[in-house]
Amino acid sequence: METDDFLARSLKHNFWTWSAQRNPDVIPVEKADGVYFWEPSGKRYLDFNSMVMCVNIGHGNRTVQEAMIRQIRELTFAGPHMATKVRAELGEKLATLLPTGLDRFLYTLGGSEANENAIKLARDYRGKFKILTRYRSYHGATMGSMALSGDYRRLHWEPLTMPGVVHFEDPYPYRSPFFPDGQAVDEQYFSQVYLDHLEDIIRGEGPETIAAVLIETVTGTNGILVPPQGYLKGLRALCDHYGILLITDEVMAGFGRTGRWFAFQNWDIVPDIVTMAKGLTSGYAPLGAVAMKSEIADSFNDKMYFGGLTYNGHPVSLAAALANIEVIEQEGLLENTQKRGETLKNLLAEMKAKHICVGDVRSIGLFGAIELVRDRQTREPLTPTAQPLTATMKKVKDYLRAHGLYINNTFHILLIIPPLIITDEQLREGFAIIDEALTLADADL
Ligand SMILES: Cc1ncc(COP(=O)(O)O)c(C=O)c1O
Repeated sequence: METDDFLARSLKHNFWTWSAQRNPDVIPVEKADGVYFWEPSGKRYLDFNSMVMCVNIGHGNRTVQEAMIRQIRELTFAGPHMATKVRAELGEKLATLLPTGLDRFLYTLGGSEANENAIKLARDYRGKFKILTRYRSYHGATMGSMALSGDYRRLHWEPLTMPGVVHFEDPYPYRSPFFPDGQAVDEQYFSQVYLDHLEDIIRGEGPETIAAVLIETVTGTNGILVPPQGYLKGLRALCDHYGILLITDEVMAGFGRTGRWFAFQNWDIVPDIVTMAKGLTSGYAPLGAVAMKSEIADSFNDKMYFGGLTYNGHPVSLAAALANIEVIEQEGLLENTQKRGETLKNLLAEMKAKHICVGDVRSIGLFGAIELVRDRQTREPLTPTAQPLTATMKKVKDYLRAHGLYINNTFHILLIIPPLIITDEQLREGFAIIDEALTLADADL
């Protein structure tokens, strides 16, 4: 009864994002705890997507809830030009998580705005306007961040209102235009081919016009593309050589997702600007941030930064972030992610060995993907990108949902992005459901 009540009432008045409005895919949610959430009917879901790839510390964490309540009672809101205790504390804390020098922070409400501000800073600091981003990237849904994004979602809105964005290829061994047969090549050589491709683009566009290269350190929704050895170091060197800033978007990959605070720390590079959101508060309150090198911040010492937001540095969001970081530290979630990440790797390998519909699997930490194909030889995706799902893909999705596994897919790619508190048993519980769903797909092929 109650389910119908708030589901029907929500359906009546709400306009749903990323959806056609007639039959939106909506789940009524009443409560959430740990790695699970529940419908009012009692139906339980194991959350393999951390809601929106953000609830890194899991649902219902008391430490964060109480920090937020304390902040609400103490000082619920203060304007963007007000110093608060929590603003001071969060800045100091974030500076300890990032490499030395990346110690000035501009707060936003989420990832899109973080990327928008990162671009403004880079353009003003360098006095150049072009931004290079990759085709298989997503940087947000505001007009500017959509222009930065490379994937199919951008195409709907073209021509976009932010000129000067140029896209380049992501190093993606499973689907590489440079190595179309998928032949195994040395990783360093593979990286070099992609860096040469980027260098060609830099020269073609004119390095004197390029302010920054912006990448998702590990590509998220477009399939968990982990950079091959040598790629990020080479990219850093290329940016230095041509006087271009390197911006890493850690909105999804940051805050423990890969087993490190930030994904770039896995490859020993230091970006000039880092954007973050999602896991920064684990979704307990809306918050994004742009971390920048102090020389970038200092370049605005005597000139105005033209940008701002009413809710810049909202105290309740900052308190949520601070408590969230404390939870990640106290519960050892980076270590848990590294350990459970090994289990995830083994489970993914099992799926690949067992199911003919699995073309490729990838992961780093608790950030994984299963790429489903119609034919292992041709690598034809089980459902084409930006098209309605094929009957087989729909069967897989419906099975997972019906059996209480909440998981996100980018067309033919299943994304495995659970809260970082997950146990091996809970990972296996989810994979038992995936195993059955993939058996259905195998039978169709
Ligand atoms: C890598 C990346 N960047 C930016 C964004 C945009 O963040 P938000 O939705 O908080 O604006 C997302 C959201 O999914 C993302 O995954």
